[in-house]
Amino acid sequence: MFYPDDVIEEVRNRNDIVDIVSQYVNLKKKGANYFGLCPFHNEKSPSFSVSPGKQMYYCFGCGAGGNVISFVMDYENYSFVEAVKMLADRAGITLPEVEYSKEAREQASLKNMLLEINKLAANYFYYQLKQPSGKTGYDYFRNRGLSDETIRHFGLGFANKTPDDLYRFMRSKGYSDAILKETGLFFIEERGARDKFWNRVMFPIMDVNNRVIGFGGRVMGSGEPKYLNSPETKLFDKSRNLYGLNFARTSRAGYMLICEGYMDVIAMQQAGFTNAVASLGTAFTSQHALLLKRYTDQAILTYDSDGAGVKAALRAIPILKEVGMSVRVLNMKPYKDPDEFIKNLGKEEFQKRIDGAVNSFMFEISVIRSGYSMQDPEQKTAFYNDIAKKLLEFPEKLERDNYTEAVAREYMIPPDDLKRLVASLGGRIGGTGSGVRTSATYEERAKQKKEKEDGILKSQRLLLTWLIERPELFDKIDGLIGPEDFDEGLYREVAGLVFEEHKKGAINPAHILNHFAEGEEQYREAAALFHASISESLDNGEQRRAFSETVKKIKKHSLGIQSSKAKDIGELQKIIRQQSELAGIQITLD
Ligand code: GTP
Ligand code: MN
Repeated sequence: MFYPDDVIEEVRNRNDIVDIVSQYVNLKKKGANYFGLCPFHNEKSPSFSVSPGKQMYYCFGCGAGGNVISFVMDYENYSFVEAVKMLADRAGITLPEVEYSKEAREQASLKNMLLEINKLAANYFYYQLKQPSGKTGYDYFRNRGLSDETIRHFGLGFANKTPDDLYRFMRSKGYSDAILKETGLFFIEERGARDKFWNRVMFPIMDVNNRVIGFGGRVMGSGEPKYLNSPETKLFDKSRNLYGLNFARTSRAGYMLICEGYMDVIAMQQAGFTNAVASLGTAFTSQHALLLKRYTDQAILTYDSDGAGVKAALRAIPILKEVGMSVRVLNMKPYKDPDEFIKNLGKEEFQKRIDGAVNSFMFEISVIRSGYSMQDPEQKTAFYNDIAKKLLEFPEKLERDNYTEAVAREYMIPPDDLKRLVASLGGRIGGTGSGVRTSATYEERAKQKKEKEDGILKSQRLLLTWLIERPELFDKIDGLIGPEDFDEGLYREVAGLVFEEHKKGAINPAHILNHFAEGEEQYREAAALFHASISESLDNGEQRRAFSETVKKIKKHSLGIQSSKAKDIGELQKIIRQQSELAGIQITLD
C-alpha cells in the first residue's frame, strides 16, 4: 500500500460514492440503492448499482465493482495513487509523502516508464508515416483503402529503413539501455543496438484503456515474417489482449466479431463494424474468451475462409462455449478474409453475412460434411453416423431433437430416420457403456460438481452479505461459524476481515475492499461478493427461512472438509459429533 491505511480511509470517507458516481453516471434512486447505465460496458437497461450504505458500486451486467477509489481508477484510467490524489484534492485533504515500498516503487515505475516509451514510439511511428521518408507506408495504407481518419484513429505508423533511428530517438530522450531492453522494441547487444522493426507499417496494440502495450509491424513487400509482433513484456500479455477491443468494448451491437488479423479489424471497424477484435498472431485462448465475456455473450467468428481459418474456428468454438458464449460462424466465401470481402462486396453485403451467420454446431457439421462424398453410399452412411454421434453431445433430449431436425432439414435427410439413428446409436453406446455416453456422463458429473461448488460459494457469499447488512446476526451464529468455515482463499480472507471489523465495532465493506486494491481479479471478486445483497437481502420471509439453511449448509461443508483432513481418530470423532449436532440446530431470526 502506498499511503497509510487511515489516510486512504479518510479520503474514501470524505468522498461519498453517490456524489462521485453521479458526476459521471445518471443515477436514479430505487429503494435503498441507486441504479444507472453502466459506464464500463454498453447496455440499454440499467444494471449498474450504487449502494450508499455500503459505499460501493456493482454492475450486474459486467461484474465491475468496487468502492469510490476503484471507480475513479476505472473510469479515469488512473493508477491507485492518482485516484487517491484526485479524491483527496476534491475533499481538501493534504496527503502525506507517499510511502512506497522499494519493490512497489520499482515495479510501478518500470511499468509506467514502459507505457511512456510505447506511447512515444507510437507517436514517432505515426510522425514517420507522414514524412516523405514514410511515403511507402502511407501509400500502402491508402492503397489498402484506409482513410486518413482511420489511420489517425488506430494510430498507424511507419518504421523506416534506418536501422537504429528509433533507438537513437529514445536515447536522446534520456532512456537507458536497461529500460529500452525491456520494451521489446530493440536488439541491444555489446556491439551496438538496432531497432527491431524497420521497413514495416506499424500497428500499435492498445489495451482496453487505450494504452499502447505493444506493436505489430507488417513488412513492406514480401519479406519474412510478414507480420512481426512485440515480444511479451511486463506490459504485453498476448493471451490477455485482443486487438481492437479498446474500441469494440463500447460498440452497441450486442455481439463481437472475432477475426484473425490487424487489417481485418481495421477494415471492419472502418466500415462501421466497430465490434471487431482479433487475437494477435496467437491462438484464441480461454483468457481471451473471458475477456470478451465481460462485454457480451455472443460471438461471431469471421476467420479466414481457408483451411487454416476453418481449423482456427473449430478450435475457438469450444473455448468460447466453455465460458458460456454462444457462437456463430460467418461465411466469407468467395473471399479470403473480412478485409477482402468488404473491399469487394461492401458493408451491406457483409451485414447480410452477419445476419446469415450459422450456429457453431451447424458449422461443425458442415465441416464434417466436406470430408465425405455424398455420391458414394458408404461415405454417405458414414457421414450420417458422424452426425448422429455429434448430436449425442446434447445431453438434453429437447435440444437434441431440435438440432436433429435442423440438421435433417439442411442435409435433406428424412428427420425420423435421423432421429432413429441417433436414438439407436445413443442406446447402443449407452448399453455397452463406452464412447460418447461415458464422456457425456463424465461431463455431467463435472457439471454437477461445479454447480455444487458454486452453490456453496453462493451460500458463503449470502451469509457474509447478511452479516454486513445486519450485524446483530453475528449473535445467531456465535460459536457455530467463524472465518475458518469459509473456503480457503478470497472468501476466507474476506470473512476474516468481516469478523475482525465486527469485533472492533463496525463493519465497513468499502474499507475491507481496500485490502484488495492491488490484485485486480481478486478485487473484482471481492466487490461482487459484497453485492450479492442487492438482489438477495433478507427482507422477505422465504429468505429469512433460508438463513438457517444457509448457515447449516456452510457448516456442513466446512465439517466435511475438516473430516477429510483430520489427523487422528479423536479429531475425527469430534467432527462427527458436531455433524450430528448440526442436524438438530434451528436458528430463528425473530
Ligand atoms: P495482409 O496480407 O496484410 O492482408 O494480412 P492478413 O491480415 O490477411 O494476414 P494473414 O491472414 O496472413 O494473417 C492474419 C494475422 O495473423 C495477421 O494479422 C497477424 O496478426 C498474424 N500473422 C500473419 N503472419 C504472421 C507472421 O509471419 N508472424 C506472426 N507472428 N504473425 C503473423
Ligand atoms: Mn488480408
